[in-house]
Amino acid sequence: MIITIDGMIATGKSTIAKKLAKELGYIFFDTGAMYRCFTFLCLKRNVNLEDKAQILEAINHFKFNIKFQHGEKHYLVDSEDVSEIIRGAGVTSLVSQVATIPEVREKLVGIQRQWAVGVNAIFEGRDMGTVVFPKAELKIFLTGRPEVRATRRLAELKTRFPEEMKDLTLDQALEDINRRDVIDSTREISPLKKADDAFAIDTSELTPDEIVMKILECKDSLKGRKSS
Ligand code: C5P
Repeated sequence: MIITIDGMIATGKSTIAKKLAKELGYIFFDTGAMYRCFTFLCLKRNVNLEDKAQILEAINHFKFNIKFQHGEKHYLVDSEDVSEIIRGAGVTSLVSQVATIPEVREKLVGIQRQWAVGVNAIFEGRDMGTVVFPKAELKIFLTGRPEVRATRRLAELKTRFPEEMKDLTLDQALEDINRRDVIDSTREISPLKKADDAFAIDTSELTPDEIVMKILECKDSLKGRKSS
């Protein structure tokens, strides 16, 4: 079974996908990490994002891998562990722009579909239910009030990068998530939007465990739909 979780920034997609995967014994994929890894490669190679030839050259050299260490996923680009740096300000400020490039999406979507063959998996991202896995058995779309999401993102960044983010304010975090959400939901190719057959869950007032419970209820309700 394939379960897709799409939604805006800081709706808890990764946390929820991880918890749900544990609960169900599925594997999970954070597809945003792939876009972040490719953005890292572009920065490393000084790629001019306006230059198609340079982007194609970079995408053809994109060697991406995942390894497990102490139960945590680590992301590798050319065997360099980039798990921390891809969450930092440099990659974050550019990733949504990189994700608008059709050739980049085509390549990464191809990899995502290969990973889905013959497994029970949860894929989280922006276009999982609409474009990558339109036939997924269960689709979830997470939303949340911008102020709540900005508060979550601020706390996450300050914990992960205490020095680099010590002066970051709530207003700046809010501005950043709004900017990226607008790019993600207005881009021409694979914009962030709810699939018609996705269950929408507003996460503003819910804990991660409560969200997982709701998703499990949605999953159970599918059985009812099939048998009726
Ligand atoms: O989920 P995360 O915030 O790490 O994703 C980083 C960026 O990657 C998003 O803002 C979006 O621009 C892009 N992305 C995408 N499609 C996906 C996953 C992420 O365009 N399936």
